[in-house]
Amino acid sequence: MSHKRVAILISGGGSNMVALVRSMTGDHPARPVLVLANRPDAGGLKRAAALGVPTAMVDHRPFGADRTAFEAALTAALEQARPDIIALAGFMRILTPAFINRWKGRMLNIHPSLLPKYRGLHTHARAIKAGDAEAGCSVHEVTAELDGGPVLGQARVPILPDDTPETLAARVLEQEHRLYPAVLKRFAAGDRTPLYL
Ligand code: GAR
Repeated sequence: MSHKRVAILISGGGSNMVALVRSMTGDHPARPVLVLANRPDAGGLKRAAALGVPTAMVDHRPFGADRTAFEAALTAALEQARPDIIALAGFMRILTPAFINRWKGRMLNIHPSLLPKYRGLHTHARAIKAGDAEAGCSVHEVTAELDGGPVLGQARVPILPDDTPETLAARVLEQEHRLYPAVLKRFAAGDRTPLYL
């Protein structure tokens, strides 16, 4: 069996990336072939290298507002790795429809809310402010609609009375590390039925 090739895009510490990389061993149908960051200071780059995964960096800042030029550089770096699947893992750049369509049906993202609630940023603060009893995370297919593609899996946590956005984020992040590897494994095997942990 030939493994599916997975490229992981990050912007920060890359804890989800580490969980994904560690999961892709043994009978897993996929293997990590590239970790790419859009910032030179993304802590996940060193963590990926320590795990033996090739890394690349395409800094978005020199491109300014020219998203198309940034994405052309991103595409060039990605294509060298010939990925079958792209996993966005804390990648904090909005992508254009042209880029998204190129990887249609092959790109996943993890988002720290129970979609369709709280697309965009500050999800934990918004869930607390709304008085929600539960929060969680979602893995979804990436479509041109921001955080709006089909949900492939979700995990839930309670919101506790004393929660701050930080304590809630930490509780959700633990679930992200369970959910994303589980969904990626199914997705790589061709199974897109949603998984609810
Ligand atoms: C994760 O909580 C992820 O869900 C979130 O960024 C964090 C990255 O952490 N993603 C988004 O907010 C996407 N809009 P990590 O770098 O430790 O995986």
